[in-house]
Amino acid sequence: MESTISIQKAIEQKSGKVKLRGWCYRERGSNNLIFIVLRDSSNIIQCVLEKKAVSEEIWKDAKKIKIETSLEIEGTIKEDARAPTGFEVLIDDIKIIGLCENYPIQKDLSKEFLADKRHLWLRSRKMTSILKIRSTVFGAIHNYFRSKDFYEYHSPIFQPTQAEGGSSVFELPYFGKKIYLAQTWQLQAEPAIFALERIYTIAPSFRAEKSVTSRHLTEYWHAEMEEAWTNFNELQDHSEALVKNIVKEVLEKNLEELKILNRDPKLLEPTVKKKFPRLTYTEVLEVLDKKANMKVKWGKDLRTKEEDELSKLYDTPIIVTRYPKGVKAFYMKADPEDDKVVLGFDLIGPEGYGELIGASQREEDEKKIIENLEKQGEDPKDYDFYLDTRRHGSIPHGGFGMGVERMISWICGLETIKDAIAFPRTPERFHP
Ligand code: 4AD
Ligand code: MG
Repeated sequence: MESTISIQKAIEQKSGKVKLRGWCYRERGSNNLIFIVLRDSSNIIQCVLEKKAVSEEIWKDAKKIKIETSLEIEGTIKEDARAPTGFEVLIDDIKIIGLCENYPIQKDLSKEFLADKRHLWLRSRKMTSILKIRSTVFGAIHNYFRSKDFYEYHSPIFQPTQAEGGSSVFELPYFGKKIYLAQTWQLQAEPAIFALERIYTIAPSFRAEKSVTSRHLTEYWHAEMEEAWTNFNELQDHSEALVKNIVKEVLEKNLEELKILNRDPKLLEPTVKKKFPRLTYTEVLEVLDKKANMKVKWGKDLRTKEEDELSKLYDTPIIVTRYPKGVKAFYMKADPEDDKVVLGFDLIGPEGYGELIGASQREEDEKKIIENLEKQGEDPKDYDFYLDTRRHGSIPHGGFGMGVERMISWICGLETIKDAIAFPRTPERFHP
């Protein structure tokens, strides 16, 4: 036989000769029989080698196969209800490609050990499934924005200023000067809407948040959009449609992966079918008081605790609008009808997954931006390039940012955001 096919293709073929390659996922043997579960990126399949069916040389070689040995197998596939994926390959020929001595990952190892061996743990069925869903999510984000005629646009990662608060910005030496890692693409994205009008990106963002939580990474992938001439309602519509599209694509493409992750797809369906509730911050405080007996003083930001209680009351994400000015970023537009709040919103994920999206209509008034910057102890001179956009044909506009790992974490039902990315970066770990 000339060419190999994937395990999934072989299963779809159902019978006849097949040539496969992959890694030994499990193995057990006796004097006359060796069972190998072969794994490739597409699936797993049970293969059997009978001593009497092959030459002595092949049999001797096959005895060396251990977990994660890479192999090429030729044989005949047939249905077998007892096999893990319902099919079995009776081996005619087997070739070892790369031996594997003492694979360190066995059952029931600690989280720390698995994090140390992350480069090998990626091969687990859990991580493989998450990474496949992650790929769908990235594709769905591109599909959504391109279908709405957005241009893909890129801001620099090396930035001259902070944008989301000085306490969480990474500062680096830069040829005798200081520079910051991007917390958001936003300040260099807003200038580009005057050229392109509708833009989006998916890029890494960095946050020097010391707290170790199930929701925070120091490096995460940020899907951001910015749109000219938009208004606050249209912005909410975009965020809702984007989330619906992502979940819909995952439900179309990744039911098998969700099953491997023990994630019930029914929990995701309301998000596709139902309209997301939209409440103001002030209404949320009333709801929390009435339905969760939780009192929050007006003006305080919603904490994890409050977001989690709120999410328990709904089976879809919730859009919370019009937060107090004091808890939000300097660029958010003050509500023309109530100066105490901003035209910003957070989209809170279901099941306690927290803020998935942060958004706002942008302040157009240069003076107000300067005032906000000064209140935060920033020097407006550093933001002159940004303020310039307000002086030269300013327009109503807005945008949002989605934490892609937060989205994946919720879709997959993960215990921690760290598993939503191949090599997570946290305050405690940047290796491997
Ligand atoms: O709410 P944030 O800080 O908003 C911005 O950065 C805006 N400039 C976005 C924009 O309007 N273009 O961050 C946006 C999202 C959050 O809702 C959250 O999902 C995610 O980024 N995020 C994090 N994800 C993982 N780890 C962290 N440390 C995160 N910090 C924020
Ligand atoms: Mg936010």
